[in-house]
Amino acid sequence: MKLAISGKGGVGKTTLAALLAQVYADQGRDVLAVDADPAPCLAGALGFPDDLRAQLHPISEMDELIEERTGAKPGTVGGFFTLNPRVDDLPERFSVTHRGVRLLEMGAVDLGGSGCICPESAMLKTLFTHLLFRDDEVLILDMYAGVEHLGRATVDFVDALIIVVEPTRRSLGTAVQIKKLAHDIGLTRLWLVGNKVRNEDEADFLQSETPGIPLLGLLPADLGVQEADRLGTAVYDHVPALRQAAEEIAKQLEGQL
Ligand SMILES: Nc1ncnc2c1ncn2[C@@H]1O[C@H](COP(=O)(O)OP(=O)(O)O)[C@@H](O)[C@H]1O
Ligand SMILES: [Mg+2]
Repeated sequence: MKLAISGKGGVGKTTLAALLAQVYADQGRDVLAVDADPAPCLAGALGFPDDLRAQLHPISEMDELIEERTGAKPGTVGGFFTLNPRVDDLPERFSVTHRGVRLLEMGAVDLGGSGCICPESAMLKTLFTHLLFRDDEVLILDMYAGVEHLGRATVDFVDALIIVVEPTRRSLGTAVQIKKLAHDIGLTRLWLVGNKVRNEDEADFLQSETPGIPLLGLLPADLGVQEADRLGTAVYDHVPALRQAAEEIAKQLEGQL
C-alpha cells in the first residue's frame, strides 16, 4: 500500500503521516515512512529518540553520494551526469528504524516544476520512483506540498493521495488545486482527511464543503499535539484521541481501496 500525504503548509500532513505509520507498524506491518520536507520533522512526530535522529541525514544534502552516483557535483548546471543513478541500496543504507517504522529523509526535492535538470534532482527523482516500485508493505510519503514529486510514470503505484485539510475555505482551496494537479497526471484516487476539528460546526463544514473528494475521517484539534512536540514524544502515544481517529481512518481507507 502506497500512500502519499499532501495539503497546504501547516494543516497536519506530518502529524497524520506519523500517526498512520505507527498504526500500520503496530499492526505488525513493514512500514517505510519518507520525509520529503526540506526541513524534515517526521522523526520528531514519530517520537524518534535523539540518538536515532542524529543518524538521519537528508539524501538531498549528501553531496558526495550524489556526485558518486550521478557523476556530477550537486549545483552543477549543464554538463553530463546520469539521469538514472543507482539508488536501490539507499533506503536500507540511510533509513533508521524505531518501533517498526523505517524512516528515510529525502530533504529538499526540487523535481523541477521549475524545469531544473541537475544531479540532485535526477538522484531524488530516481529514488522517488524506486520507492514507489519497491514492495514495502506500507509506504507513507509525507509530501510537504503538492504532488510535484509524483510523475506520470509513478502515478499507477500510488494507492491513495490523502489531502489533509483544516476546517477553513483556504485549505479546501488548496485541496482543489492539488486535485487539479493530480488529475493532470492521471491520479484519481484521492481522499480528504479533516484535521484540527474543534466542534460539530467545523465537522459539518468539512462534511458539506468537500470539493468532490470523499472524506476519510476527521482528527480532532487537541493541545496535546503541541505538548507532544515539546516533550519529544509521539502524538500517537501522547494523544489517545488522535491515535483512535487515525486507526479509524486507516480502517476506512482499507475498506475503500
Ligand atoms: N489535531 C491537531 N490539534 C492541534 N494541533 C495540531 C493538530 N495537528 C497538527 N497540529 C499542529 O499544527 C502544526 C502543523 O502540523 P504539521 O503536522 O507539522 O503540519 P504540516 O506537515 O502539514 O506542515 C504543528 O504545530 C502541530 O503541532
Ligand atoms: Mg510537514
